[in-house]
Amino acid sequence: MELKTVLEKYPKKPDCLIELLLEYQNGKATRHLEEDELKMVAEYLSLPESHVFSVVSFYSLLSMVPRGRHIIQICHDVPCYVSDDFNVRHTLESMLDIGIGETTEDGLFTLEHSSCLGCCDQSPVIRIDEQIYGNLNRNKLKAIMSQYRSEDHA
Ligand code: FES
Repeated sequence: MELKTVLEKYPKKPDCLIELLLEYQNGKATRHLEEDELKMVAEYLSLPESHVFSVVSFYSLLSMVPRGRHIIQICHDVPCYVSDDFNVRHTLESMLDIGIGETTEDGLFTLEHSSCLGCCDQSPVIRIDEQIYGNLNRNKLKAIMSQYRSEDHA
């Protein structure tokens, strides 16, 4: 969807910023925002460009780097770190053959770190797109990834 079309859906209010950016970004195949797009959003909402850029760099669901169809975020805050007895990060890196910050060759998955995802009672936790997965173990993680792969090849 064109940025102009998304902008027209929102009132010119600063508190629409994150929702608007997420809708536009997640509708793009590359799941990222470009500099000129952020400038357009800043102008539309009458916000300083620096504010819009700082929101994008702070908010982990927003990115200025092209990403895959599914964004896998691995929580690496303390509760998840200490309960991670099988090493979520290395398991995913091995399964996908990519490192943190990289995207699989088929463009399906991007792997990222995240601060606390707000579900510490289910640690270790990952988020794939908007969905949280907790109480992970190696088998559960493999089943989750198989599910995503089969859905994308259905
Ligand atoms: S520390 Fe991982 S969800 Fe809170």
